[in-house]
Amino acid sequence: MASDLVRFSVAMPQSLLDQLDAYVERRGTRQNRSEVVRDLVRERLVDESLAVPDEEVIGSITMVYDHHTQGLSARLDKIQHRHHTEILSTMHVHLDHDDCLEILAVRGPGQLVSNMADCLLGLKGVKYGRLNCVAVRK
Ligand code: NI
Repeated sequence: MASDLVRFSVAMPQSLLDQLDAYVERRGTRQNRSEVVRDLVRERLVDESLAVPDEEVIGSITMVYDHHTQGLSARLDKIQHRHHTEILSTMHVHLDHDDCLEILAVRGPGQLVSNMADCLLGLKGVKYGRLNCVAVRK
């Protein structure tokens, strides 16, 4: 066990523990229960960071959209220009005749980044979207 790891005990209903173990098993043999619990805690803390206005986060916004959707490209462009400070870089891939994949590298205060992602991903014509972030602890 690495020296910076601390052991503690957690009480939970057997049924919840069974669900956790089933989840650990689905994630594959490379991870044990402790590693999965650590990941879950980290994910939750990042979600919390996104709700704290001043906590800086870095990450990406991934979205797939049909560029034929009336007015969508212009709306995406307008929001991205409004957030030029938070958007560090963008990659655009024309997936097929209809769909585009766009990946934005983002950085900024959690709530601002989260609101920007909501604006982009909530637009009509965006078929898939996800914000992935990690908190930057100084
Ligand atoms: Ni395209």
